[in-house]
Amino acid sequence: MDIKTIILAAGQGTRMRSSKPKVLHKVAEKALLEHVYDTSAQLENNSIVIVYGHGGELVKEQLNYLDANWVEQKQQLGTGHAVQQAESFIRDSDKVLILYGDVPLLKNSTIEKLLDNVTPDSIGLLTVELDDPKGYGRIVRAEDGSVLKIVEEKDTNADEKLITEGNTGIIATPGNLLKQWLSKLQNSNAQNEFYLTDVIEMAVKDGVQVITNQAVSMDEVLGVNDRSQLAYLERAYQLKQAQNLMLQGVSLRDPSRIDVRGKFTSIGQDIEIDINVIFEGTNSIGNNVVIGANSIIKNAVIGDDVEILANCIIEDATVGSRSRIGPFARLRPQAELASDVHIGNFVEIKKSTIAMGSKINHLSYIGDATIGSKVNVGAGTITCNYDGVNKFRTVIEDGAFIGSDTQLIAPVTVGKGATIGAGSTVTKDTKENMLTLSRAKQITIKGWQRPVKVK
Ligand code: UD1
Ligand code: CA
Repeated sequence: MDIKTIILAAGQGTRMRSSKPKVLHKVAEKALLEHVYDTSAQLENNSIVIVYGHGGELVKEQLNYLDANWVEQKQQLGTGHAVQQAESFIRDSDKVLILYGDVPLLKNSTIEKLLDNVTPDSIGLLTVELDDPKGYGRIVRAEDGSVLKIVEEKDTNADEKLITEGNTGIIATPGNLLKQWLSKLQNSNAQNEFYLTDVIEMAVKDGVQVITNQAVSMDEVLGVNDRSQLAYLERAYQLKQAQNLMLQGVSLRDPSRIDVRGKFTSIGQDIEIDINVIFEGTNSIGNNVVIGANSIIKNAVIGDDVEILANCIIEDATVGSRSRIGPFARLRPQAELASDVHIGNFVEIKKSTIAMGSKINHLSYIGDATIGSKVNVGAGTITCNYDGVNKFRTVIEDGAFIGSDTQLIAPVTVGKGATIGAGSTVTKDTKENMLTLSRAKQITIKGWQRPVKVK
């Protein structure tokens, strides 16, 4: 059977108090709806339908790249009504899976188990045992334990209110049965809504077996209704990332103070991460890497045995093995560092390649440069790469020594093994292995006296 996932994302989310639709709010820099989409997209033979709400055009616009059919639910008349909008996409032979767009942490393994319960005469229902079931639909069971129906909180009687098994809203059913049941939904209930939950009672009447699974953890089935729940799920998600990292051989000084907003294409062993480190986008980190406190690492490739000291920002950059970065260094896009490179405090590198063993240790700006191996760039060196209109490259060849406080006016090349005297403004290419300096001669004025205050 092919799978048809229907993601309900039309709810208004009033309690978010936001001008943007709820499902666009983010956990780990990814919209809630994208989390749900990504989880279901892992299923094989699956196609996805997203039901979005009136005014939810923005959702469709922003997440247009998703490989899904979009259906509008013009008025939010209930979860059953929402599924009805997707009816034309449901084939009789499909296994239909209903998910909520605001429940971001649902596990793939959980929905796979649920789908296994679907046969021509049985459906799957995901429930959860709750300490406080308030607000949830209750699972009403017969003496023998079989499911009879779901009763919404507002429709419960006193006995039903005491039931602690709640409906997660997530169900899986054969397409032909679902379509029959959808056509029979009524809104004669406390909220005058078309409840999807009513299909459970219909199934029982039709002699279809309702097989339940329980969610492994509460977090997995929690929906976001307000910003406090959003923050809670962000932490839950981050803690899970932290656990995964530790399982892979990464030491975290404090698992509650790390944020992974994205993914790792590879992660080495014996990595040590101090507090408040943020990973964004797609990162790859080698073995024996040490990352200091308060660093932000985004779309980076970090080699083996690299040491990143505290407070560094690394973005779209490559750091070769055994290099040492920071503290307080910034590697901007297209900074490509080979192995054994040292970048020190208050150094900014942009769109530059730096070959093996070179050092830029203090207070420098290196932009649009090609730096050879074993180059030493002194404190306060600036590549003047921009004339206000165009950008130009600076080339520093192998083994050059750039004295402190040098300005290199690009385009310019410093020859192999050349030395630049401190305080120079270099406007012309310099010769290999020679000393170049541009500096006013130092003079001493005899008999000069400091001015004194006029009385
Ligand atoms: C629903 C269930 C309830 C369950 C609870 C779990 C029904 C009738 N009730 O209640 O049994 O315990 O979820 O959280 O199904 N949505 C639409 N269109 C609509 C209404 C809702 O797309 O017209 C979407 C929402 O965006 C949301 C999901 O459906 O993603 C659930 O809606 P919500 O209003 O939160 O349902 P509850 O009343 O909490
Ligand atoms: Ca809800």
